[in-house]
Amino acid sequence: MVIKNIGVLGAGLMGSGIAQVAAASGYHVTIVEVDDELVKKGLSNIEKSLAKLVEKSIITAGQKNETMARLRGTTRLEDLADSDIVIEAIVENLQIKRETYQRLDQICRAETIFASNTSSLSITEMMTATSPERQRRFVGMHFFNPVPLMKLVEVIRTILTDERIYEEAIALAQSFGKTVVRASDKTGFIVNRLLVPYLLDGIRVFEEGLASIADIDSAMKLGCHHPMGPLELTDFIGLDTTLYIANTMFDEFKERRFAPPQLLKRMVQAGLYGRKSGRGFYDYADPKSPKPMNII
Ligand code: NAI
Repeated sequence: MVIKNIGVLGAGLMGSGIAQVAAASGYHVTIVEVDDELVKKGLSNIEKSLAKLVEKSIITAGQKNETMARLRGTTRLEDLADSDIVIEAIVENLQIKRETYQRLDQICRAETIFASNTSSLSITEMMTATSPERQRRFVGMHFFNPVPLMKLVEVIRTILTDERIYEEAIALAQSFGKTVVRASDKTGFIVNRLLVPYLLDGIRVFEEGLASIADIDSAMKLGCHHPMGPLELTDFIGLDTTLYIANTMFDEFKERRFAPPQLLKRMVQAGLYGRKSGRGFYDYADPKSPKPMNII
């Protein structure tokens, strides 16, 4: 199948990034949000992100306008009827995703491919909300934040995914200029399977009093050449998101290395979500110079 029309479900942080790279790669993109305000916000975030690329002379003003012209926004799921593939990036909630896939299955053509951008849920559990024919056309496409900048996409197959469909999804991600890694439908895929226990260990060693926040981060940046230390990175991802993923992985594997440390739970309960809430392991009152928080 030649993919021309792409539906993107959810225009939040990830969905707007996915819609942007798809439209910039020449595809016609329809984004779906829950209300008109969020449709507008999604499109305006894309426009701002493209404007920054124009400022940096990465793209021309003409390319920005062409990309925007390939995007349309709607609140009607029915407007995805002509999509060749739908990439879903709505809230990380299995029940809501399953209900949405069930409706979408009735709306889209039999050939339409379904792809989820989930970070931690089972693709198989979402897929079973659709018809047996669709289940063969169901994959995971896990992008990274910020989508326009991050090169990687993990493309996930279930035990029922058709080989040709899997290759089409891989080719699509490559046509966005991304590098693809292949993984099977095991919780966390490759990146989170390896990253989450590392982040949790970073929090655990701080909790145990091994070293200060700043020294743990400096150690990993300077000693291992990581661009961010584990606590800084947890702030960037969001402590609430990290806790959610850790809980999902712990449920799946029942291994201590995925168990969220108490400090992470307490910080989330206290509203310290990281960068997005202004405070986490660091205080972002001055975003250019975050200060380690005085925790414990
Ligand atoms: P977000 O909260 O920024 O965006 C989700 C959007 O989906 C919201 O704007 C919401 O209004 C919309 N939405 C909810 N229900 C909907 C529905 N039924 N129809 C249409 N739109 C609906 O969340 P974010 O961070 O963009 O995450 C979305 C998905 O991407 C999740 O599955 C998450 O696990 C995954 N993901 C997130 C990453 C991240 O770094 N934030 C990285 C990779 C994957």
